[in-house]
Amino acid sequence: MPNHGADQPHSPKRWSNLMPLFVALVVIAEIAFLGRLDIVTKSSTVNSWADSFYQFTTLPWASSFDPPPIDEFVIGSDQFGVLDSDTESCEVWLERQDSVVYSRDFQSHPIFVSANEEDFKSCAVGCKFGFDSEKKPDAVIGLGHTSGAPAVLRSMESAQYYAENNIAYARRKGYDIVMTTSLSSDVPVGYFSWAEYDIMAPVQPKTEKALAAAFISNCAARNFRLQALEGLEKENIKIDSYGGCHRNRDGRVDKVQALKRYKFSLAFENSNEEDYVTEKYFQSLVAGSIPVVVGAPNIQEFSPSSNAILHIKELKDIPSVSKSMRYLADHPEAYNQSLRWKYEGPSDSFKALVDMAAVHSSCRLCIYLATRIRESDEKSLDSSKRPCKCTRGSETVYHVYVRERGRFEMVSIFLRSSNLTLKALESAVQSKFESLKHVPIWKDERPESIRGTDELKVYRIYPLGLTQRQALYTFSFKGDNELRKHLEKNPCAKFEVIFV
Ligand SMILES: *[C@@H]1O[C@H](CO)[C@@H](O)[C@H](O)[C@H]1NC(C)=O
Ligand SMILES: *[C@@H]1O[C@H](CO)[C@@H](O)[C@H](O)[C@H]1NC(C)=O
Repeated sequence: MPNHGADQPHSPKRWSNLMPLFVALVVIAEIAFLGRLDIVTKSSTVNSWADSFYQFTTLPWASSFDPPPIDEFVIGSDQFGVLDSDTESCEVWLERQDSVVYSRDFQSHPIFVSANEEDFKSCAVGCKFGFDSEKKPDAVIGLGHTSGAPAVLRSMESAQYYAENNIAYARRKGYDIVMTTSLSSDVPVGYFSWAEYDIMAPVQPKTEKALAAAFISNCAARNFRLQALEGLEKENIKIDSYGGCHRNRDGRVDKVQALKRYKFSLAFENSNEEDYVTEKYFQSLVAGSIPVVVGAPNIQEFSPSSNAILHIKELKDIPSVSKSMRYLADHPEAYNQSLRWKYEGPSDSFKALVDMAAVHSSCRLCIYLATRIRESDEKSLDSSKRPCKCTRGSETVYHVYVRERGRFEMVSIFLRSSNLTLKALESAVQSKFESLKHVPIWKDERPESIRGTDELKVYRIYPLGLTQRQALYTFSFKGDNELRKHLEKNPCAKFEVIFV
């Protein structure tokens, strides 16, 4: 992907020395042509002067006046961000003027995280894990170090057993970056991935007499899973139990192979916590054994289709869940319908969730850290140096940046004020990435049968910096007007796109 950063020939840095002159020119332009003397009193209006200046220099009616008296001051006018409307489009001009010279090249100076070395495939940004007392780390896993680098909490346990895994609690304890199973954490670490689970493995004949298999080793979990197991037994659901809890079968078996022979699998977690969904659940999906879930209250968000799982939300659901199990067991067509996703592929929402893990969490941490470094570079620039929009006549062109989730570099998209709609944003993203012949990050990770065609399908576009919970489930612009407001409030706004 093109790098809009360090290798751009026209560095906006050169502006900085000339900024006072530039402001003076804007003021002259304002006074001479707009006569709006009143605004000179407020320094906070520099931005809006700058905007009017760009507008002024690009308005077609400007040519019917004498040329503004700026040429004599300007040496190499494009360094000043003056748009030559005859030769250059707003897009080309913005691409140059908005480019930022970043403080660090992550290729030669990779993000360095002080932690055990990790083995992961290539990362979209330079990324190294290890210990090196000579080098100042960009982040450190754990608390209590003295490097001053951000402290990272990384854990796959539930907060019900490890209190500090609660995000708010972790922050109070001094962690800057939280990596837990919560999709609201900064860099989620899930149990799921296409690589770890052969989720599209074919369905096998259900040869066991018992309806369900259970692999529950600890009967003393802090939720109601033991009572749920007993409740199902009381409803005369025949269960083969391979785990330490209510064992009636020899546990020395290959779990997934065993599950394949059962119509249902009791995927009972040891805590009922949002997003806490472990291998118990994903192994049931691999096995093509309908998961009966005790666990995350939002487990439906992890379901490969709307009718693919049964959920015991509370103990009083047991009679109705038992009834559903019996019904499905007695009606092969209905049962097969619940496994339809195995034949036709899971929902887009399921794919978008699991695709997150196509990029290793260590790499996602590096991307997160590198993005923060770039954002602080951008913040330290005088914001008036980046126009981020360009007006010609009655039309304003907005410059926005987009990258695919899981990648690092951004590409430019341009939106026009005459067509500032969500649809136009999506279509601009789509055609930009198509023109780049972009290959989605999950292409080599997903099982072959669900890799789709070469066509890109936009699933979500959201402002960079949202959590995955927001990105996948809760955020959306409420109409075109909100998008417009967002672009006005966030010059050179950045977005992430998820393709499915
Ligand atoms: C289940 O449905 C799929 C197609 O949706 C079909 O290929 C398969 O044979 C069916 N299996 C049974 C046992 O009916
Ligand atoms: C606005 O954008 C949409 C999506 O790109 C496009 O289909 C439509 O033709 C555009 N309308 C105008 C008036 O440019």
